[in-house]
This record gives sequence, C-alpha cells and structure tokens, in this order.
Amino acid sequence: MRLPLVAGNWKMHKDHREAVDLVRELDGLLAGLEGVEVAVCPPFTALSDVARTLKESRSRIVLGAQDVYPAPEGAYTGEISPRMLKALEVHYVIVGHSERREIIGEGDQLVAAKARAVLEEGMVPILCVGETLEEREEGKAESKVRGQLESALAAWSSDEASALVIAYEPIWAIGTGKTATPEDAQEMNSFIRGWLAERFGQDTASGVRILYGGSVKPDNAAELMAMPDVDGALVGGASLKAADFAAIARFRE
Ligand code: PGA
Repeated sequence: MRLPLVAGNWKMHKDHREAVDLVRELDGLLAGLEGVEVAVCPPFTALSDVARTLKESRSRIVLGAQDVYPAPEGAYTGEISPRMLKALEVHYVIVGHSERREIIGEGDQLVAAKARAVLEEGMVPILCVGETLEEREEGKAESKVRGQLESALAAWSSDEASALVIAYEPIWAIGTGKTATPEDAQEMNSFIRGWLAERFGQDTASGVRILYGGSVKPDNAAELMAMPDVDGALVGGASLKAADFAAIARFRE
C-alpha cells in the first residue's frame, strides 16, 4: 500500500513570519490525522523558521523545498545547494515544476541534474511533469510526459527510482480553477506507472507515489484521491489557507 502524500507548494507566498503562523495553525488542524503524509514546501527564506517550528512542536508535518541547484557549492549567485537544504532537515524537493520550466526557462537537462542532486543528498525529489492545453488538444499529452520522464530519469536505477515521488500537473489546471477530472488524472497517472514498470520493473512501479496537482481543493480532493493511481496531491493555492489544506489532507473524512 502506498501512503498518500499531500504536499503544499506555497510558491512565492508567505514571509518567514507568516510561514510560521501558517504551519502552526496547520499543525493544530492536523492533530490525530493518521494514514496520510503531509508536507509543506515554503519559500527558501522561511525554511529555517518553519523547520524550527516543526521541531519544537514535534510535528509530523514533513518539510519540503520548492527548488534546488544541482551543485554541492560554488560560484552560483542566488542558488541554494542540496546540502543547505539537507542541513535544515528538508526531506522533499520539488523539481521541474511547470512554473520553473515555463517562466524561468528550465530545460529537461537541468531538471534531470536537479533530480539526481536531490537523490544523491539523500532527499526525495517530487518530479513534476505535465502538458499544456495545446499539447493535450493535439493528442500529445502522453508523449510530452513520457519525454519528461525519459530525460529526468535516464540515469536512474530501479533501486533509486523506488524512492521517487512524481507529480502529474497538467499546466492548464494549475492556478486556473480548472481541475482535471478524476478520470483524466487516473488515465495519466496510470500511463506514468506503466512507463515506470517498463523502465524499472513492476515492483518499483508499484511503490512509487504518483500525485496529481492542479486546482486541488477541499471539494474535489476525495474524488481525485479515490482513483487507484492517484497517491496524493501537490497543492498550490489551497495550501495557503490552513483550513482548506487540512480539509484536503483529511480527504478520507
Ligand atoms: P494550484 O497549483 O493548486 O494552485 O493549481 C498546483 C501546483 O502548481 O503545484
């Protein structure tokens, strides 16, 4: 059985004080929740304070980061290394989010290097893949996602891949209020698992958690999560309100 993962991607929201308030409130609302792993990915400037807050309150919320640079250290102005994240007890690192691919211009090679660097530092990448509306309408959604998986995981062994988390995030559903139907999400997530099985074997594929992301909200979380290949959610907008995010994490209730 795959433990569902509900991860909040705070994007460029919340300064370090607001972040601490949000995670405290969230922690209270999640008291007693079993059988779901909950993670938050605050901006870099808030990681240290959120890490301390989680530790002090012995919270079960897991810390994630939104990005990383694939080098141990060096002259990379403005970048953050895997080791710096690891030192803050970051566990998950989002890699290849469509906003970084589309707005910042990150290519597949850089995404692959980031995923690798996260793995090598002993953290878990949440590798994001997904198609644009145009690609979907042209029937190219699966080939786009396959290409992203092939390039990001080219150098991975089956053992390494078993630790991975993948997030299917159709770009047309991110921040738009347009959620993919549970059937759309299931279809792509099952395609991704099929690809993993071909590439890494059925055992590995069965263990990898494949999330859905894109306008997940309290009122659609349960039906998405009910799909057999949807193992959780990567949540943007709705993760900024503790009550909404907690309601998503409590999708079974
Ligand atoms: P959204 O963002 O929930 O605001 O659509 C999801 C994401 O980008 O991870």
